[in-house]
Amino acid sequence: MNLEAAQKPHDRLAEALAEDMTAVNIMIRERMASKHAPRIPEVTAHLVEAGGKRLRPMLVLAAARLLGYAGPHHVHLAATVEFIHTATLLHDDVVDESARRRGRPTANLLWDNKSSVLVGDYLFARAFQLMVEPANLRVLDILANASATIAEGEVLQLTAAQDLGTTEEIYLQVVRGKTAALFSAATEAGAEIAGGTPAQVQALFDYGDALGIAFQIVDDLLDYGGSAAAIGKNTGDDFRERKLTLPLIKAVAKADDAERAFWVRVIEKGQQAEGDLEQAMAIMARHGAMEAARKDALAWAARAQAALQALPQHPLRDMLDDLAAYVVARIS
Ligand code: IPE
Ligand code: IPE
Ligand code: MG
Ligand code: MG
Repeated sequence: MNLEAAQKPHDRLAEALAEDMTAVNIMIRERMASKHAPRIPEVTAHLVEAGGKRLRPMLVLAAARLLGYAGPHHVHLAATVEFIHTATLLHDDVVDESARRRGRPTANLLWDNKSSVLVGDYLFARAFQLMVEPANLRVLDILANASATIAEGEVLQLTAAQDLGTTEEIYLQVVRGKTAALFSAATEAGAEIAGGTPAQVQALFDYGDALGIAFQIVDDLLDYGGSAAAIGKNTGDDFRERKLTLPLIKAVAKADDAERAFWVRVIEKGQQAEGDLEQAMAIMARHGAMEAARKDALAWAARAQAALQALPQHPLRDMLDDLAAYVVARIS
């Protein structure tokens, strides 16, 4: 790890939570294996050993610790959310026909769609086994609901894709479901296991919700403007998949007749040719669509930071504040 990387807020969080994260990583490794079907450890190891930022488990741990939790169960919950996350990534890459994840070829590319779907199901099931161990009904409720909400978000996105009538409101619903639901469940479950007051639990839920929305808007911006090396995924996937992400929705809303015809061809009809991605980006730039989406992401990050004000002073609170700034700094 170089010095610059060590300055990143999620590395500071990882450092502050190092002991807990070690326990989480051990638990993940123990529970991702299966003695009965060798394909499972092959696929899970491929994805898990590629790392990933481990943002969601850190959110669980930070929420619990900042409210003074001293028991063992935040580790189970942190491993649970990373399993749910990993399961959704396996499924998502099948649905999106993606070829790169975490800087590696995707499991669907290396093995096949069937393996990705089934191993994803296995990880979901393992997540449920883990989440019952703390024997806390409230926490189970949060994580079970989040699992359903994520799937709803992905399905809603599927039906909104290729539809130029998709509004910012629908986009927000998709993003809240597919991404923010797990962020908010992570922070809420951490607060709940720590026995936080209703106001503290709500504040941490609100933080996770707004952070998750900011995070996904940024992810969607990077799909157009990022470098594949930096994000470990291919860029242009959303355009190719004809997804109505925020910058595209904003550009479509301002389209003149010629631009409208372009969007109908490439997004609705899916007739894409060489140079269309560049053309799409030029149109979005002309309408300031990327810039407007960037401002929205900044506003959500600010909302996440504002939610933290209801929580006690704590170094972890400051790190969560920095994390919100960092998530949007990737596009600043
Ligand atoms: C990727 O999430 C999926 C999205 C919600 C955009 P992350 O960017 O947190 O993935 P990893 O775990 O670090 O690879
Ligand atoms: C990821 O959505 C959301 C889930 C993992 C459910 P995307 O499809 O936008 O994320 P990437 O770009 O593949 O990571
Ligand atoms: Mg995807
Ligand atoms: Mg997707």
